[in-house]
Amino acid sequence: MMQPRVGDPVAAVPTPALVIDLDAMERNLARMAAFAREHRLKLRPHAKMHKSARIAALQVAAGAVGVCVQKLSEAEALAAGGVADIYISNEIVDAAKLARVAALAGRIRLAIAVDSSLGIDRLALALKAAGTSLDVFVEIDVGQGRCGVAPTAAGALAHQVVSHGLRFAGLQAYHGKAQHLRSADERAAAIRHAVALVRAAQASITGAGIACPLVTGAGSGSFAFEAASGVYGELQAGSYLFMDRDYADNQPAPGAPVFEHALFVKSQVVSRGASHAVVDAGHKSHAIDSGLPRTWQRDLVFANGGDEHGILHPGRDALPELGDTVWLVPGHCDPTVNLHDRYVAVRGGLAGGVVEGVWPVDARGCLV
Ligand SMILES: Cc1ncc(COP(=O)(O)O)c(C=O)c1O
Repeated sequence: MMQPRVGDPVAAVPTPALVIDLDAMERNLARMAAFAREHRLKLRPHAKMHKSARIAALQVAAGAVGVCVQKLSEAEALAAGGVADIYISNEIVDAAKLARVAALAGRIRLAIAVDSSLGIDRLALALKAAGTSLDVFVEIDVGQGRCGVAPTAAGALAHQVVSHGLRFAGLQAYHGKAQHLRSADERAAAIRHAVALVRAAQASITGAGIACPLVTGAGSGSFAFEAASGVYGELQAGSYLFMDRDYADNQPAPGAPVFEHALFVKSQVVSRGASHAVVDAGHKSHAIDSGLPRTWQRDLVFANGGDEHGILHPGRDALPELGDTVWLVPGHCDPTVNLHDRYVAVRGGLAGGVVEGVWPVDARGCLV
């Protein structure tokens, strides 16, 4: 297989390729780290987005306390790559998986979310059998209608956690539906509602005689509002590092840092008609659940050409010629990354830069 090599000019990278603009990514990394520091908040970026132990290490070096993942196998893959502090911000109820969670808790600092009595009982059993411990967050539903209990049920679950001798670490309160509400006002209102529910859950927990050490949540669309709330102590945003097209379509939140696109699919024009051009990147190269990619620094209209093709029509710019490179900004970074084995990390810009690294997507396909 043709592989990009360190030192190659970016022009020589075979297409389609998943490319990181390192200079842009590092600016995003530093901006979010500075934001968290200034607000005296912990930053625990969501690594389900990049699935890379190397990128997680960069985030920790810039001040993150650790990372979140969504799946056990993601946690195992990142731990194998040297990540030492991981929070599985998700529920696991399968006993065999919980035995692996308990084993992993013996190797790294680990945390997990729960939202059921059964889940807590099984987790406690697994940890007892392994003789290990971890931090347990009770998840409340703050508006997405996904996982999480009603705020009034949080106290009983926290009590059950403590009764088993487990460490109750606080509340998981992530509002997924808020992230892509386009106007900043709509997102602010959604997080105001989430904050009211968090306060109710805190009351339920303190009413059960238990302290609630930390509230964790927030994504790249809403973190400025959670940060201003006074109740959240930790931010879980992930996509800020790469900034996909869907997030760029949001109206920016006042006071939030501005993030740049740092993840691209490099594609090449392989066919040219009189009024269209065809690139070699289709939806096996980029996820389309959040819409189609945008062409970078060329105003062209991208249409879905199937698995392996993208069809370009003129926008304000003229069509590219056969053999030209076209850079695509994916609609949604997380599932786009999961389509690729490796990142090509480029220094010095997309136009004239050089390959600085070829990094594995360590947790690619880790869905279990
Ligand atoms: C639980 C949880 N926390 C944080 C995030 C981070 O969101 P984003 O990558 O959109 O910043 C997600 C994303 O879906 C999530 O599910």
